[in-house]
Amino acid sequence: MAKKKILITWPLPEAVMARARESYDVIAHGDDPKITIEEMLETAKSVDAILLTLNEKCPKEVIDRVPENIKCISTFSIGFEHIDLEACKARGIKVGNAPHGVTVATAEIAMLLLLGSARRASEGERMIRTRSWPGWQPLQLVGQRLDGKKLGIYGFGKIGQALAKRARGFDMEIHYYDIYRQPAEKEKEFDAIYHDSLDSLLSVSQFFSINAPSTPQTRGFFNKATIEKLPQGAIVVNTARGDLVNDEDMIAALKSGRLAYAGLDVFLGEPKINEGYYDLPNTFLFPHLGSAAVEARNQMGFEALDNIDAFFAGKEMPFKLA
Ligand code: DGY
Repeated sequence: MAKKKILITWPLPEAVMARARESYDVIAHGDDPKITIEEMLETAKSVDAILLTLNEKCPKEVIDRVPENIKCISTFSIGFEHIDLEACKARGIKVGNAPHGVTVATAEIAMLLLLGSARRASEGERMIRTRSWPGWQPLQLVGQRLDGKKLGIYGFGKIGQALAKRARGFDMEIHYYDIYRQPAEKEKEFDAIYHDSLDSLLSVSQFFSINAPSTPQTRGFFNKATIEKLPQGAIVVNTARGDLVNDEDMIAALKSGRLAYAGLDVFLGEPKINEGYYDLPNTFLFPHLGSAAVEARNQMGFEALDNIDAFFAGKEMPFKLA
């Protein structure tokens, strides 16, 4: 039987490509330049499924133009705000994501942002690279320790919990708010203290980590009003999505010292980020590195392929979204 054809919109790790090629006739797009939506829609006419990434934005207008032959889309990401699921449902297109591979890698990056922000790592790095280090000084780049500090985690899903586990290793006190409260034994595992509102969580969070998905309810939630509820000089890290943050309000708070530091891995409109971030010394900034670990990227690819395999086997996708 002829192999099914799939489009992979971006080069993926070799182990993932090898597995894909074993089962499918793969059309893989090169990464330079990245695939345009028009190219994706054109190529889609001659394939049976699409494995795409968060770079390929698929609002309703795009989904409505997906050719009739496509009934399966799988995304190489845990996030799925780039795909209009309702539009997919209306067109009978099954959609799946890759929800597990990112967990540990993203929690590690959140931990790195917490540490790097608390200990002013990027300022130190810059001092060396700009050849401006005058030598050791008692008051030079003095940050703060993590131990004994209250870490508020907003969004206590898999990544939030993996961060809690790591932060416990640094003797941080874990607080969380989520629309779902974890069972008592889970809370005990992390010595996590539940807050029944975001405001309550904010009021104690000397360190605040954003781990909630991008939804109509969460977008822009981190703004002037929210920041005002944090303790003076709090440190915030974001490994979730940039659109949860109001950049102007965050930048103003970093400039005034209301926030001591921000460690950010994700940005609204990335890679074109708010100009205000570039010259702020009290930021530790990464180019969306959360899942950029070989173990994570392999697993993400395998999960995305699991969805496609299940679809062609006439089964429910294991990581079904629509
Ligand atoms: C995801 O999978 O949604 C991540 O943001 C990719 O790093």
